[in-house]
Amino acid sequence: IYPDPVLKQIATPVGEIHEGIRALAGRMIDLMYAADGIGLAAPQVGVSKRIFVTRDPDDEIRAIVWINPILEVIDDEMVCDSEGCLSLPDIDVKVQRPTGIRISGLDLEGREVVMESGEHIARVWQHECDHLDGRLIIDRMSTMDRLRCRKVIRELVERGG
Ligand code: NI
Repeated sequence: IYPDPVLKQIATPVGEIHEGIRALAGRMIDLMYAADGIGLAAPQVGVSKRIFVTRDPDDEIRAIVWINPILEVIDDEMVCDSEGCLSLPDIDVKVQRPTGIRISGLDLEGREVVMESGEHIARVWQHECDHLDGRLIIDRMSTMDRLRCRKVIRELVERGG
């Protein structure tokens, strides 16, 4: 939970995909579903590694694990939409992001996976990759949202993460 300092760190790449990484991914998937989220990045569970999980957009009950993901913009039309974050409870802000994304990364077996999307999941990939670079939605919100959310953010800071 914000303002835990791990959320501001640049996460380190995953080296060997050993049992510990598989256990971490499993824990993250369980947490994502328990919190009714659509994505969760390792820094959000206190682990500064480049790994995140999302729900499979084509199969709600299946999760996808991305290890050392890299994004490439394939449609740079910018669209503004609401985003929330499990690390920022009760905050909902508008974030501008490019529409079309190609993501490549490794799965838990170390195989390279590539996907492309111009749908909502492309926004989720960008949100989760931001976490791996220590960036949160409150770093990307508009001045108006900053004013609107000021009180909630202050309360989170006072609670100390
Ligand atoms: Ni988030």
